[in-house]
Amino acid sequence: MANQVLNVYDTASQAELAGLYDDWASSYDSDLDGMGGPTEAVSMLEQCLTPDSRILDAGCGTGVIGQLLGQKGFQCVDGLDLSAGMLDRARQKNCYRSLYQCALGDSLDIADNSYDAVVIVGVFVRGHVGSNAFHELIRITRPGGYIVFTLRPEFRAGTDFQQTMDALEQAGHWHLKQVTEPFSGRFEAHPEVNLQVWVYQVA
Ligand SMILES: C[S@@+](CC[C@H](N)C(=O)[O-])C[C@H]1O[C@@H](n2cnc3c(N)ncnc32)[C@H](O)[C@@H]1O
Repeated sequence: MANQVLNVYDTASQAELAGLYDDWASSYDSDLDGMGGPTEAVSMLEQCLTPDSRILDAGCGTGVIGQLLGQKGFQCVDGLDLSAGMLDRARQKNCYRSLYQCALGDSLDIADNSYDAVVIVGVFVRGHVGSNAFHELIRITRPGGYIVFTLRPEFRAGTDFQQTMDALEQAGHWHLKQVTEPFSGRFEAHPEVNLQVWVYQVA
């Protein structure tokens, strides 16, 4: 499992990354088994939303977040992901209203203000999706809605994420509602990895 985790950070192309996740899909849930912040992100969402809220799980993978949201009574949850293999697994869980195969960072074929919240867990990491994805996520979230995501503190500090998050706030596109203290990602092979959940409210 550790090798699979390391591989996904160092791909040469989006197609290669999608292929690695296609291959990982069948064992992803048992390999990670709740690691990486899904519970913490869902707990933050619960504080902001009601059961009829429209939620997009962006980079939904095998549907770990959708399943947790379903257990909490959220019924209007859509998912999107790059990997067809991961989406197949998510589909089998029957916890999403709709699932889309597309790439964060590109323009999304989703209408303005479609969601009350977007949740992104384990996707803003090395070799995956950059901070340029925020613009589209803000566009598809209604004013007053929430964008909830996980980030590793050292990744945030070593990339343009903090700068982009601050610039979007200064430009009046969103404001920071809450951020957790760093907590362990509980990655068996990488106990040193900490995460934070960030909650922004769209202006
Ligand atoms: C570490 S997994 C996290 C999955 C899920 N959010 C979870 O917490 O279990 C990262 C996911 O991001 C997806 N991904 C990577 N790059 C993407 C992109 N540009 N657009 C959409 N999904 C992407 C991968 O296919 C994979 O399913």
